[in-house]
Amino acid sequence: MLHKIINIRNLSDSAYIIRMEKNNFDFLAGQYLSLGIPDDANMREYSIYSGDADPYLEVLIKEVQEGDVSVLLKKTRVGQALNVEGPYGFFTLRDKDIQNREFLFLATGTGISPFHSFIKSNSQLNYRLIHGIRYVEEAYEKEAYSDLRYTSATSKDSQGDFHGRLTNYLKTLNPNSDTLCYLCGNVDMIHDAYDVLQEKGIPVDQIHSEVYF
Ligand SMILES: Cc1cc2nc3c(=O)[nH]c(=O)nc-3n(C[C@H](O)[C@H](O)[C@H](O)COP(=O)(O)OP(=O)(O)OC[C@H]3O[C@@H](n4cnc5c(N)ncnc54)[C@H](O)[C@@H]3O)c2cc1C
Ligand SMILES: NC(=O)c1ccc[n+]([C@@H]2O[C@H](COP(=O)([O-])OP(=O)(O)OC[C@H]3O[C@@H](n4cnc5c(N)ncnc54)[C@H](OP(=O)(O)O)[C@@H]3O)[C@@H](O)[C@H]2O)c1
Repeated sequence: MLHKIINIRNLSDSAYIIRMEKNNFDFLAGQYLSLGIPDDANMREYSIYSGDADPYLEVLIKEVQEGDVSVLLKKTRVGQALNVEGPYGFFTLRDKDIQNREFLFLATGTGISPFHSFIKSNSQLNYRLIHGIRYVEEAYEKEAYSDLRYTSATSKDSQGDFHGRLTNYLKTLNPNSDTLCYLCGNVDMIHDAYDVLQEKGIPVDQIHSEVYF
């Protein structure tokens, strides 16, 4: 399906948000779509950044140096149409948990995208969000989250809320054993955070993950 671009927000030299027409594209917060340029066979997966009730679709993309698709998408302009397929994926919240469970969200880089959608879609969510990034400039749209619930962990500068990797910050926390944990981003972080959560007594069936690369 073709979806016209309505707006583009550049968040840094390499990260940008594309807002597109929603058309009839219904999805559950946490799902992803497949995106590409019409007439180009290459498509890539992107978590949906917007909320499930927003009248548009948004994705948060980081341009990967020498990447095939993220570089082409960065060159697109308002009014141009993109090829969208989906939605796909099971990295979603269960209705019965939304009202009465505590959530711990762990993201690296653009892995914050599904959490933005969870939070925008469910205003009453009881969550803590830890965002692992290299530099504070990568704390994408942090004003969308309550200061009490959001922590940036910056590994390459001391300007974040915590100086060091997300996993080092996680070691300082003591989550309740019934906390539901969602992990999204690079696979090494997911493995390491998984180990820390297990050491903290979180059962494996309460840990959900979405690997980007
Ligand atoms: C389920 C799922 C959801 C995803 N959601 C997002 C999203 O919301 N935003 C987003 O920017 N990307 C997301 N990705 C990654 C995305 O699909 C592409 O892999 C990425 O945009 C690179 O594509 P490319 O064609 O430009 O580079 P390619 O030519 O395909 O790959 C170049 C290299 O870049 C590495 N790479 C892939 N993704 C990243 C990244 N985010 N940061 C740094 N290096 C990377 C790959 O390991 C590869 O070695 C997601 C991936 C999956 C599987
Ligand atoms: N050469 C460079 O200067 C440079 C600069 C930017 C990006 N890159 C490359 O671009 C890609 C994406 O970079 P990115 O910054 O967007 O995403 P990223 O590699 O996922 O890094 C985001 C954050 O995750 C942290 N992280 C990485 N592995 C982790 C682990 N096992 N446990 C806990 N935290 C972990 C990083 O810490 P650390 O900083 O400690 O790894 C950083 O704080 C990577 O492949 C990277 O090598 C290279």
